[in-house]
Amino acid sequence: MKPLDKEQLIGVVGAGAMGGGIAEVAAMAGHRVMLLDSRAGAAARAREGIGDRLARLVEKGRLAANGREAALERIEVADGIEALAPCALVIEAIVEDLGVKLELLAALETVVGPEALLATNTSSLSVSELGAGLRDPRRFLGMHFFNPPSRMALVEIVRGLATGDEALERVAATAAAWGKRPVTLCSSPGFIVNRVARAFYGEALRLLEEGAGHAATIDALMRESGGFRMGPFELMDLIGNDVNLAVSRSVHQAFHGDARFTPSLRQQELVDAGRLGRKSGKGFYDYADGATPTAPTTMSPCPAPRSLVVRGELGVAAPLLDAALAAGIAIERREAVLPGAGWLEIGEAQAALTDGRSATERAAQGLENLVLFDLALDFRQATRIAVAVADQADPDSIETVAGFFQALGKQVSRIDDAPGMIVMRTVCMLTNLGADAVHKGVCTAAAVDLAMREGTAYPRGPLEWGEAIGIGTVIQVLEHLERAYGEGRYRVAPLLRRLHWAGRGFGSIGEAGS
Ligand code: NAI
Repeated sequence: MKPLDKEQLIGVVGAGAMGGGIAEVAAMAGHRVMLLDSRAGAAARAREGIGDRLARLVEKGRLAANGREAALERIEVADGIEALAPCALVIEAIVEDLGVKLELLAALETVVGPEALLATNTSSLSVSELGAGLRDPRRFLGMHFFNPPSRMALVEIVRGLATGDEALERVAATAAAWGKRPVTLCSSPGFIVNRVARAFYGEALRLLEEGAGHAATIDALMRESGGFRMGPFELMDLIGNDVNLAVSRSVHQAFHGDARFTPSLRQQELVDAGRLGRKSGKGFYDYADGATPTAPTTMSPCPAPRSLVVRGELGVAAPLLDAALAAGIAIERREAVLPGAGWLEIGEAQAALTDGRSATERAAQGLENLVLFDLALDFRQATRIAVAVADQADPDSIETVAGFFQALGKQVSRIDDAPGMIVMRTVCMLTNLGADAVHKGVCTAAAVDLAMREGTAYPRGPLEWGEAIGIGTVIQVLEHLERAYGEGRYRVAPLLRRLHWAGRGFGSIGEAGS
């Protein structure tokens, strides 16, 4: 499908944070843009803001001065809705209010031509519901940009129940021609990114509530072990706890209270107390001038082991053995004497990758001095690792295992014995929520991975990541979590089981989810 022609006029209604950015993207791609806002002077100010942003690009040498002038000249401030009559596509980015949006869309339909496409940038409203008021809803769809639109490549192209194929494909092709990465999906709560990302915040909040570790420790582990650009708490403080909680609440409500999306009482307390994050000076962290930054919990140096024994297969943690050899630690292989994944014997202690059971539970089943360690994005590169010791283990066990990881150049954070630890639990839930979206026909597996990499900058798409861990392992972690908590929150998406039984990966299901 061909994108809209550059000669065709684009309308943007709502010249706030998003509308201004969308107008900039369309104008930079060569379109003339009509920018409309109901607040007097708002569209003109947004145009000035675009001029300032482009001037900074010129200063940095990333844009020619005449490129800035030309783009600005292409943006016109509309003096009323009639000025949008010649537009081939109108994108609304007005206030997030169903009634106000319905009214605007109905008015737009009477102004534009019969071929014109209408799109909404809504983050939380149903595209099917927004389209239901239109005479011709086939031309209506969601075009969900991320903030700031000029820098974020992802655009979720959302099909409402009545959206026509042609409108969907034309707008997706147009987004691609604007230098964006479009992913298509069916209208459903949270679309892809705000649905799957709930696990990133939700698991961290639960771990904090349960006292698994401090916010700074969880953040450091998610960054330095999980490879995420930001930890969940620093990100919630940046987004604003009020905004983040509102999204969680809206997704939870839209899913009719599904336990997978239950919002956090701890975050609610923070919001009630006005601790909204950076913007209010305090959230999970204190941003006041002179406030001492909170440091993650880090264990003091412990003696390095000279040798270790490997029992069975370590799966995704196997690269630790190469790192151990490189650190001069002698390795002896012996048969596993218990079913399931393998472990390391270091002196009197045993060290194993979390499988969703607590260390205490697993110790009761045979590994008495067990210390669990968490998942890392890359076990060789990770600079920090979480460890948790079984209640019944010898107190020296944790130092013995910490000494091993320290010998590999890693900082070690001791956390409480929380089932599934931190990174493993979060990644398995991200995989599960992504698989659930694919299973329900919202989008393809490739769309989930692309959306999460581009929309949230995760180091790996969650489905691709789950596959690297092993779908069987992901299922096992989730099942153990479900048993530990007795909650439907951790129930396994049936697609994961199906792939596991068939011995297949997400690549095998191709377009089935689209
Ligand atoms: P904003 O509050 O910065 O801007 C909204 C603009 O719409 C204001 O300038 C307001 O005067 C104007 N407006 C309100 N009603 C209008 C009407 N009937 N006709 C014309 N103009 C009208 O809001 P923001 O953040 O730009 O959000 C806009 C939309 O984009 C919302 O639907 C929001 O959910 C969505 N969105 C927001 C993101 C964000 O990070 N802020 C990210 C992705 C989507």
